Amino acid sequence: MAKRRFLVLGATGQLGGALCELAAKQPYWEVRGLSHTDLEIRDAAAVRGAIAAFRPWVVLNATAWNHVEAAETDPGSAFSVNAAAVAVLARVCREMHAFLVHFSTDYVFDGRLARPYREDDPTGPVNLYGLSKLAGEEAIRLITPRHCIFRTCGLYGGRRSPRAKPNFVEAILARAARGEPLKVRSDLVCTPTSAPELAEKVLQALQMELVGTFHATNRGHCTWHEFAAEIVRGRGLRVEVTPIAGDENREGARRPAWSVLDHAALAAAGVRPMSPWQEALAAHLAA
Ligand SMILES: NC(=O)c1ccc[n+]([C@@H]2O[C@H](COP(=O)([O-])OP(=O)(O)OC[C@H]3O[C@@H](n4cnc5c(N)ncnc54)[C@H](OP(=O)(O)O)[C@@H]3O)[C@@H](O)[C@H]2O)c1
Repeated sequence: MAKRRFLVLGATGQLGGALCELAAKQPYWEVRGLSHTDLEIRDAAAVRGAIAAFRPWVVLNATAWNHVEAAETDPGSAFSVNAAAVAVLARVCREMHAFLVHFSTDYVFDGRLARPYREDDPTGPVNLYGLSKLAGEEAIRLITPRHCIFRTCGLYGGRRSPRAKPNFVEAILARAARGEPLKVRSDLVCTPTSAPELAEKVLQALQMELVGTFHATNRGHCTWHEFAAEIVRGRGLRVEVTPIAGDENREGARRPAWSVLDHAALAAAGVRPMSPWQEALAAHLAA
């Protein structure tokens, strides 16, 4: 049987790296991962050339401009990577008959709902990063029917690009190691999510040829303060983590207060739910 070709963009990011690692273990996939150095996703000709050269069955776009604060003052960068380049990619995928897998965020919602967000709940980003990611999603839905969009939250784990900003787990451990005081928001609720575990679910969904938009995070939820406290506890550190609230008058990106995603759609499609966030975090910290 001919191998199916699997092209990962953003291959040195945490999720892109996890996808490449896992896919490379499958005997029936031929995997190619392109880093930012290999391919600038804003370069339409380069994107077209890379896809024409490899002729993938599926393109997984794990690239993102994910600087939430900076997006408020530099929306051009956020929109060029998260929306305009995604629209071009969707068009190239459609023309070259490639299935497109893309990743989005809990930040497409306003965070005011009293229950976990379902895929078809109304969106309403409260910051420009969220708006740029929503624009990318919408472009895909309009341009190519052969797509799967996974919205996720609070990613950590997987390989890291040398240019990557530290994820939350790395940032907390680095600050604890430097003896800096740890003051963390206790008024924002999220679900920390393991990138390697998410990659497993993405591959399952691909094997099942699922199409559409799906929410995929670990199970449960916590405040960012509780997440930080669990990181410190999991590493056996004796460091105090102080809960703080955000300042509504502060300039900069607003954050949704409740960023919890419902997983019923993926479960109904036959993909087993991910593990509780505490278990995934403990496994990551123990590795
Ligand atoms: N991280 C989270 O907490 C989180 C939460 C919700 C949703 N998501 C979504 O999940 C997906 C994966 O996120 P992640 O955490 O794995 O991101 P990540 O670790 O920051 O990786 C992003 C990758 O994209 C590459 N990249 C950035 N700009 C590029 C460009 N112009 N052209 C080509 N490559 C470019 C980066 O390369 P360089 O670093 O070398 O520039 C990096 O390899 C993204 O769609 C993100 O929006 C993430």
